[in-house]
Amino acid sequence: MTKILLLHGPNLNLLGKREPEVYGRRTLDDINQALREMAAAHDAELRIMQSNHEGALIDAIHEAMGWADGILINPGAFTHTSYAIRDAITAVALPTVEVHLSNIQAREQFRHHSVLTAVCLGQISGFGWRSYLLGLQALLDGRVTE
Ligand code: DQA
Repeated sequence: MTKILLLHGPNLNLLGKREPEVYGRRTLDDINQALREMAAAHDAELRIMQSNHEGALIDAIHEAMGWADGILINPGAFTHTSYAIRDAITAVALPTVEVHLSNIQAREQFRHHSVLTAVCLGQISGFGWRSYLLGLQALLDGRVTE
């Protein structure tokens, strides 16, 4: 069975209430439920964690080395700043897909650059909560070059 760590970064606990015109009206629980269903349909196991703290996200990435086959992560604003999360992803060497609800290229300049994408298999951005479904699909399908 494929095992995936799903990580949600800062402020994503507020989904549904937080800027719904940007991030949609689904709550984090709604999104997690849809992903659990998709994972189950693919005989995959999902372990889910949300944290507003960079170190807690890094700890979860390190722990994933012991059990996970891949990581699906919406790093929130850490996308644009966190060399520490980047190093953690590199260190564990697990296939990782970065997802964003909003199209970060269409937003403020500071959101245009991700410091993480270069160490991920790829980035999916702009499809609302469905970005997560597309990201999970990409992880379950494996590397596109295989
Ligand atoms: C986000 C985009 C980030 O720029 C922002 O800081 C978030 C959410 C997204 O899912 O669109 O918190 O990762």
